[in-house]
Amino acid sequence: MPVTEQTTEATLFDKLGGADAVASLVDRFYERVLKDPELEPYFRNVSTEKLRTMQREFFSAALGGPVEYAGRPILHAHHDLRITLALFQRFVRHMFDTLAEFNLSEPDVYDIISRLNMYTNDVVSAGLGLVG
Ligand code: HEM
Repeated sequence: MPVTEQTTEATLFDKLGGADAVASLVDRFYERVLKDPELEPYFRNVSTEKLRTMQREFFSAALGGPVEYAGRPILHAHHDLRITLALFQRFVRHMFDTLAEFNLSEPDVYDIISRLNMYTNDVVSAGLGLVG
């Protein structure tokens, strides 16, 4: 058997339902985030339109879709924001709750969440030692 095997398995991007589904995932997710009194203040001076565009791109790419993320590295976009681990977990929890509205299997939901968790150290300031 060859070491690298061709796979025909659908990407998470496909399983979610493609570009339109990612767009509505991001929109519904941000509704939750912006309703959360602990997270909302972080987004007050941010163009949510631009953020949504970047997030759509980021999620499409992170889920294996045919899109390149052209935004700033996640570490650079967050390193001045003083985001704690608890806030990061709230953010991911909102994504978990949003994913429940979509027609995904449990393993696929956990796969998506674990892809987000890979960015913990890039988003959480305490992990960087740059602020204190
Ligand atoms: C896995 C977790 C996260 C991912 C994947 C993520 C992803 C992103 C992306 C793709 C951008 C756009 C970067 C750009 O404009 O070039 C962004 C910006 C931003 N994120 Fe996150 N984010 C995460 C967690 C968080 C959390 C927990 C908060 C707040 C508590 C947050 C607050 C922000 C803010 C305020 C901006 C705009 C920064 C600016 O324009 O200067 N993010 N994020």
